[in-house]
Amino acid sequence: MIVIDTPQATRSQRLKAATRESHGALDKRIMAGDIFASRGQFARFLRVQYRFHRDIDALYANAALDALLPDLEARRRLPLIARDLADLEQILPAPVPLRLDPDLALPAALGWLYVAEGSNLGGTILYKMAARLGLDAGFGARHLAAHPGGAARHWREFTAALDGVVLDDAQEQQVIEAADTAFRSVHGHVELEFDQR
Ligand code: HEM
Repeated sequence: MIVIDTPQATRSQRLKAATRESHGALDKRIMAGDIFASRGQFARFLRVQYRFHRDIDALYANAALDALLPDLEARRRLPLIARDLADLEQILPAPVPLRLDPDLALPAALGWLYVAEGSNLGGTILYKMAARLGLDAGFGARHLAAHPGGAARHWREFTAALDGVVLDDAQEQQVIEAADTAFRSVHGHVELEFDQR
């Protein structure tokens, strides 16, 4: 069920509330995958991230989104994830049809980007845990390293812009549904990756 918080809440606050369930399920599923047990396990998580970021990669070159969001191009993390995989001597996951409609409407694109950007917050926790595998910003966990200006600040700049985009009620609902779909899609990548033995 999709829950919308009070009308006074900002868009990003409403997104957080509406995706609490799908985010919580994803967190649990990833941690149950024991991704810090070994570099091999961590590589599974990297492949999930790679698949997710490959799905959304075209959004970072979208001019309409770039006009609305700060440093969009610099927020792109697919190349960093590819380098993390290369550090661990992993091959890149085989190309598959993208999960995202190439003609995605702008509100839906905002929902997917909310999920990708927000994951940097949880990423700071994962980054600290990755240290136990000897991974860091220079090797294997590049894509989880906090922005030099601070992860929280980088996130606030993004949400401020996201919250400022003027949308009608139907578009508002599209953002929320897309964010929920994005979480479920990542969950699908996890199921695929962690079911293989
Ligand atoms: C690829 C997988 C993941 C995605 C796509 C994702 C997505 C997100 C998003 C969108 C947010 C922003 C929430 C908001 O403040 O609006 C967030 C925050 C957060 N995530 Fe995740 N997440 C992922 C994995 C994880 C994992 C595995 C953990 C835990 C071990 C985690 C823990 C957190 C925490 C603690 C926050 C900060 C919550 C807060 O500031 O209140 N995330 N994540």
